[in-house]
Amino acid sequence: MGKNIVLIGFMGTGKSSIGLRLAKRLGMEFVDMDREIEKITGLSISALFRLHGEVRFRSEEKLMAKKLSQRSDLVIATGGGVVLDEDNIRVLRENGILICLEASAKDIFRRVSRKKGTRPLLKKDFKIEDIEEMLNKRAAFYSCADYRVNTSGKDLNAVVQEIMELLVQK
Ligand code: S3P
Repeated sequence: MGKNIVLIGFMGTGKSSIGLRLAKRLGMEFVDMDREIEKITGLSISALFRLHGEVRFRSEEKLMAKKLSQRSDLVIATGGGVVLDEDNIRVLRENGILICLEASAKDIFRRVSRKKGTRPLLKKDFKIEDIEEMLNKRAAFYSCADYRVNTSGKDLNAVVQEIMELLVQK
């Protein structure tokens, strides 16, 4: 049984779209943590935040990190804040390779602006400065990754290829 491949990184860095393609290339199962939390709670992530608050979301996220790290051979797309809890990182690392996807604030802003309203941590009229501020606050948390891959200005398939090459080298 092989280790999981765990994609971490800020919102809008491409964890879900790249994860899905990577899993297909590797013939592995793809799991998106936020979608799993939505299935279990019966609520969208934004409804979960709105009705029960971030604390409840983080506790669902923690349970999900633990549950998924007990499985193998998965490509897991995490939510951008999974790294804020060191227990999550510990369990995900026990049975996984952590790959952090990165992107410029400008690209993140452009990508998350397309799906306004789905990311409860971003206020309605967020600006690129808000993204920059959050990126700065989060930077140290993402440094737990085994590998970092920059996705800015790259085609999804090129990023998948880059990850494949990293995995072969190791
Ligand atoms: C969050 C990122 C979101 C989602 C939730 C919290 C965060 O996932 O888990 O809104 O704290 O950065 P994406 O990274 O897929 O947007």
